[in-house]
Amino acid sequence: MLSREENDRLTQVGPGTPMGEMMRRYWHPIATSAQLPHPDCDPLRSRLLGENFVVFRDTHGKVGVLNELCTHRGASMALGRVEEGGIRCIYHGWKFAVDGTIMDMSNNADSTYIEKLKAPAYPVVERSGLIWTYIGPKEKQPPFRTLALDEVPEANRILFRVNTNANYLQMWEGGTDSSHVGILHSNLTRPGWLAAGEHIAAPELNDMVSDAWDDMSPKLDIENTAFGFHYASIRRVGGPNPRHNVRLVPLFLPHGRVIQFPDFFTTVFDVPIDDEHTASYLIDASATRQLDLQERLKRSGMTEERFYSNNTFVANWDFGYWQDRNAMKKKLNWSGFKGITQEDAVISTSMGPIYDRTQEHLVAADAAIVRLRKRLLDCLKKIEIGEEPIGLNLEDMTNVIGFDIDLPDGTQWREHASQQGLHSADKS
Ligand code: FES
Ligand SMILES: [Fe+2]
Repeated sequence: MLSREENDRLTQVGPGTPMGEMMRRYWHPIATSAQLPHPDCDPLRSRLLGENFVVFRDTHGKVGVLNELCTHRGASMALGRVEEGGIRCIYHGWKFAVDGTIMDMSNNADSTYIEKLKAPAYPVVERSGLIWTYIGPKEKQPPFRTLALDEVPEANRILFRVNTNANYLQMWEGGTDSSHVGILHSNLTRPGWLAAGEHIAAPELNDMVSDAWDDMSPKLDIENTAFGFHYASIRRVGGPNPRHNVRLVPLFLPHGRVIQFPDFFTTVFDVPIDDEHTASYLIDASATRQLDLQERLKRSGMTEERFYSNNTFVANWDFGYWQDRNAMKKKLNWSGFKGITQEDAVISTSMGPIYDRTQEHLVAADAAIVRLRKRLLDCLKKIEIGEEPIGLNLEDMTNVIGFDIDLPDGTQWREHASQQGLHSADKS
């Protein structure tokens, strides 16, 4: 249970709030490359940490991130024309380059003005299908990070973005919480429901996810790392060959995590749009094989159009979330929903836009959630005493990945991690 003050500190991300200022020290995804599919395509209005921006791709393919409202008199640049190397405001025709340089000021003959003035523009890096920006203090811009997902061939990577009407911490805590996997996602993970649910996991996933059901109260080994923390969830798995299944999950500040599957891994960023909305970017990457985006979207429950509109999860209590009570009664569907992403979004939004954590009752299985909050609050404290937040200057994060393996004795997972050259606990 948190105090109201702690809950506010953790969940409020706007300018001037402690978490908002902390988050602004890092780079964030603001769009996918697919949202700006070609030079001079339609611009995008995108909100990040409670501020509005226009994101556009110029004639040469370069991406710019500017404040949404025009430097002249505040019309939305997201209504603008993207043409001939810049974006032009449709109100009085001022035109801006990706770096904020004013290219044309049609209603002003004074040419010195155009040289003196610049639109607020933010650094951009486009990599591996994501458009990243940095909106924090200029003098404090950290290095850009390379992640494990950047290392796989482009053809072996798929990604999508989904917006949810809930605070980022609800989404991130859901992603940290391993003990819901065998219950909420029973359609995918629980023997008996696997066949009944309409949405069956890809066959290679079944083995792994059904372990989640075999031992519902895994032992959690949680350790701090230079980027945040990781936890190993160790389950006893019965059957003809009793064994220990160990799943290592790294979580990195300010909003990332990596989940390992047998031959691919998923990296998720739960990026705050504002206090009540989150843009989750999910990237699947495989060292060995090509992946199928349509199949992935179907498995996640994202192809059901009434649940998703314009990248956004829109189901709510107006229609009882369209929960399929009939299928639940007939034992054809555990949750009444289809697919992991859909189930997670239903749960996160059902708590209201910002869950009041003064009302919760935590148990031992929630230890990773407690650590997640602690690491976020640690970052706030570090900033207060003039230190850098956790992991800010880590440039090479390619060894920040997890694993999912069976070991005869679950305690050997650290040896396995070091043999694989993975990140390790922070001893400092
Ligand atoms: S408000 Fe944009 S040009 Fe005047
Ligand atoms: Fe989930």
